[in-house]
Amino acid sequence: MVNRSFVQHRNPPTSRFIIRKSFSPFAVTLFLIFIFASSIFVFLFCTRNILEDEQKPLFSKPEKFQSKPELKSVDHLWNAPSSYGFHPCVKPTSRYEAAQTSDHYITVRSNGGLNQMRAGISDMVAVARILNGTLVIPQLDKRSFWHDTSTFSDIFDEHHFIKTLQSDVKIVKELPKELESIPHARKHFTSWAGFGYYEEIARLWRDYQVIHVAKSDSRLANNDLPLDIQRLRCRAMYEALHFAPPIENFGKKLVERLRLRGERYIALHLRYEKDMLSFTGCTYGLTNLEAEELKIMREKTPHWKIKIINSTEHRMEGLCPLTPKEVGIFLQALGYLPSTLIYIAAGEIYGGDSRLSELSSRFPNIVTKETLATEEELKPFINHASQSAALDYIISIESDVFIPTYSGNMARAVEGHRRFLGHRKTITPERKGLVELFDKLEKGQLTEGSSLSDHVQQMHKNRQGGPRRRRGPQAGIKGRARFRTEESFYENPYPECICKSKQQL
Ligand SMILES: *[C@@H]1O[C@H](CO)[C@@H](O)[C@H](O)[C@H]1NC(C)=O
Ligand SMILES: *[C@@H]1O[C@H](CO)[C@@H](O)[C@H](O)[C@H]1NC(C)=O
Repeated sequence: MVNRSFVQHRNPPTSRFIIRKSFSPFAVTLFLIFIFASSIFVFLFCTRNILEDEQKPLFSKPEKFQSKPELKSVDHLWNAPSSYGFHPCVKPTSRYEAAQTSDHYITVRSNGGLNQMRAGISDMVAVARILNGTLVIPQLDKRSFWHDTSTFSDIFDEHHFIKTLQSDVKIVKELPKELESIPHARKHFTSWAGFGYYEEIARLWRDYQVIHVAKSDSRLANNDLPLDIQRLRCRAMYEALHFAPPIENFGKKLVERLRLRGERYIALHLRYEKDMLSFTGCTYGLTNLEAEELKIMREKTPHWKIKIINSTEHRMEGLCPLTPKEVGIFLQALGYLPSTLIYIAAGEIYGGDSRLSELSSRFPNIVTKETLATEEELKPFINHASQSAALDYIISIESDVFIPTYSGNMARAVEGHRRFLGHRKTITPERKGLVELFDKLEKGQLTEGSSLSDHVQQMHKNRQGGPRRRRGPQAGIKGRARFRTEESFYENPYPECICKSKQQL
């Protein structure tokens, strides 16, 4: 770029002469100090950009300092935010004692979809440790709407699970036969419970030898638990709960196929399934007929408590999943090239290919499980929603960039796991802000191009999955409701399971 003032200075020969003549050692020193000061300024400015949200600096030595931001390379769109030397830390502290054999048993019925169950099972490992009981391999949710009859060992590597946690909690495949017929304490543990709650629960052992837990989701608080319990949750989630070998191997094969198609890929968690839209009441961009169909589905689904939803208001609050069209505008504004390889991790897109074309018209290089694998290969996964979700999970973890278009158990789990593995890039759309921009586009108050790009990039520069502490409850919310507003433990296991200094290993 031409610098105007520089040109003007150069033009009159007299002034050039004067400047030349006035070069003294003092001026040179001043000049060097100025250069030094401005590079510090540039350095501070750049590192601040990498820092997530309003968090305090947590690092001292950046690894990747990009000294030439003016070179418009697309690498920054793919590179992970710097981890600043953070690493996983899940080893127990020196106070931690090996699990003892216990003749008290905990049986669990794990509820929800794959990622809700994974978090719930990891929590139950920690609960069994607090209760000093033996954990029986959990039973999985088989309710019809999860479309899966898989057992624990169909989805997870059971042997690896038991072995990895052997010094933390005793885990057995089945409840001993002689205990099946004796009375069990059946409990619905309170949600987001702390250590004290489970100390109380431990009193049940006076009267019962078996405690049955009816639900496993969110039974443990996100925060204020002993460090060793938090780290045990991470060991369970990230080290013990491996997928069963057939799923793990096939998932890796699909990742290899993606890598053959393109060096790098985005895993897009496109939440645009019928049930999602019906549940959230988001009908923006749909026909009246479609909107009606979704409304009827919502009214007919008993466990969805909120029946009347104003889609317009919901969307303006940022509570709607991005539409395929909006995702296309978003990715383009971020700077991704039309040739970008995008893997769609999702169920069936509502409106099918014609709606997906609103994204593929901008990004034709879109792939799904169905385009990566043969029918024969996918056969074992059809009618097993959790196993199919496990493939999406593996591909999402391994992707260069993960983008969820809506929050949810999968988005949270993948984001947290990526943070744990070294803050792999996760771009979380700022839906409320984006919707304002999309509406301006619609009204013609804004056009696609550099100005939209600047807005979108600015809005997302601190939403790239870089290191930051887990967020606490929303300010001003009192009582138990505040737990719901906290960032979940598995969405960001920092600081307990992600450390900087060696001592915390
Ligand atoms: C754990 O339970 C076993 C047997 O049920 C008991 O012997 C042991 O003392 C308990 N440990 C603690 C720390 O309570
Ligand atoms: C939904 O909310 C919008 C914005 O507040 C309002 O203009 C519209 O009339 C509402 N629609 C219905 C059906 O209530």
